[in-house]
Amino acid sequence: MQTVHKSPSFVATADAAELTAEFLVIPVFENDDFRDVPWLPQRSSGHVDHARTRGELTGKLYEVMHAVLDGNRPVRAALVGAGERASFTADRLRRLAIVGGLAARRSRFTTASFVHRSASFDAATAAQVVAEGFTLANYDGASYKTSGDAPAFLDWVQVAATGAGSEASLKKGAVLGECTNLARELANEPGNRLTPREFADRAAAIAGQAGVSVEVLDEKRIEALNMGLLLGVARGSQEPPRLVVLKHEPTDAPADVTLALIGKGITFDTGGISIKPAENMDKMKDDMSGGAAVIAAMAAIARLGVPLRCVGVVPMTENMPGGRAVKPGDVLASAEGKTVEIINTDAEGRLILGDGLWYARQLGVTHLIDVATLTGACVVALGKTTSGLFGAPDRWVEEVRQASERAGDRAWPLPTFDDYKDQLKSEIADFTNTGGRAAGATTAALFLKEFTGTLPWVHMDIAGTAWAEEPKPYQPKGPTGVAVRTLVQVALAADSWGKLDLKR
Ligand code: BES
Ligand code: MN
Ligand code: ZN
Repeated sequence: MQTVHKSPSFVATADAAELTAEFLVIPVFENDDFRDVPWLPQRSSGHVDHARTRGELTGKLYEVMHAVLDGNRPVRAALVGAGERASFTADRLRRLAIVGGLAARRSRFTTASFVHRSASFDAATAAQVVAEGFTLANYDGASYKTSGDAPAFLDWVQVAATGAGSEASLKKGAVLGECTNLARELANEPGNRLTPREFADRAAAIAGQAGVSVEVLDEKRIEALNMGLLLGVARGSQEPPRLVVLKHEPTDAPADVTLALIGKGITFDTGGISIKPAENMDKMKDDMSGGAAVIAAMAAIARLGVPLRCVGVVPMTENMPGGRAVKPGDVLASAEGKTVEIINTDAEGRLILGDGLWYARQLGVTHLIDVATLTGACVVALGKTTSGLFGAPDRWVEEVRQASERAGDRAWPLPTFDDYKDQLKSEIADFTNTGGRAAGATTAALFLKEFTGTLPWVHMDIAGTAWAEEPKPYQPKGPTGVAVRTLVQVALAADSWGKLDLKR
């Protein structure tokens, strides 16, 4: 397998006149006068001014114009449209860095200098999101190609920005970008390569390198815990299930708060006996993106030394049809004891998460967040750009929403009113595993809620956002690593929510 991502090293410089990389990435605003960077038009032999008068260079968001520069270094530049100066945000800056980084790689440069030109927000945030962006740009999904040019990656990136603490912020951004790329790498792996056992091994390796403690429960341990929902989904597969448990327990963490992250780890979802149509079924290799996000976020949390106890729980299995597979009408008993009538074997994510949420609670955690490619209904509701947020109490959902905003992951709340619970009524068991077409993302969330006890809980449905089907200037086709940075941002903000009364 070829390298799929590389983390560039970052250096900070306060002086935009001392750029040492071959390639320059520089934002250009609408109606830009280049007053703060007069050397840019000067060094382009009139090319930049000419392009502006012709209307080629407008500063429109994500527009890219390449220019040749006079002098030694940099020798080439990508002028990246930054939109209106007044509406510039950290989120835009992160995306600009991605666009610029991709431009540098496409031109096969291995070093780049970025010039930050805005004072709209603090310098530390700016340095961090620039490092995130360039690291995210250094991802390539063509890992199994044996012919064609090997992809070019950036080795190092110089960030010209004034502001104290930018070195530490650059490091933080690099870790956030790197761990997002780790999740993308895992989600991109085909189902035949990334079986539940392999997924668990990779999780253990990633955790080990980051200093996260790891325990892998095999099928015997899972059986001993009576995880009937996870075992029920795994029955159709030749591959045994796994439950990966990750722990970050720093000595400087408050003793009374433990954040649990639970991720859906379906390494391939055929739908089981309620089998999916052939069209697009190949996409279901990414049905472990929530699990990958949890593993990668745990690694980032440990590498950043976040002073908070965090636990990651990832149930892993394939969802396959087979002679022993769970069938519609079957009744499964969860580890918690609640019984479930299976109506549709394709609603498997909520089943394995039910046991996963219960297991996290057994570990004495105080706050729950689960992440899952859970429902097509969420994609219908919010599309491919925005993840669904569900949970209780509202204040906890709002914490996660705000974290997603800082992370550059779009997410928005959807309801979990009790009224919807009627849709999960079963004649034979405590409830069914599907609630019909109406409000499908909400009924899935209400199913999960049954396994959350009375803890503050958020469910993030990333079915639409985990995989980009259309390329955007700042997001190539393929796995996005969504939710990784959101989870880390929640952990980083524990000071503010750790003391809140989040009773439900
Ligand atoms: N993994 C799918 C959800 C999904 C759909 C993810 C589309 C990404 C894109 C999940 O396991 C599933 O099959 N959900 C069903 C639930 C239904 C049977 C109640 C769905 O959404 O159709
Ligand atoms: Mn399914
Ligand atoms: Zn699924």
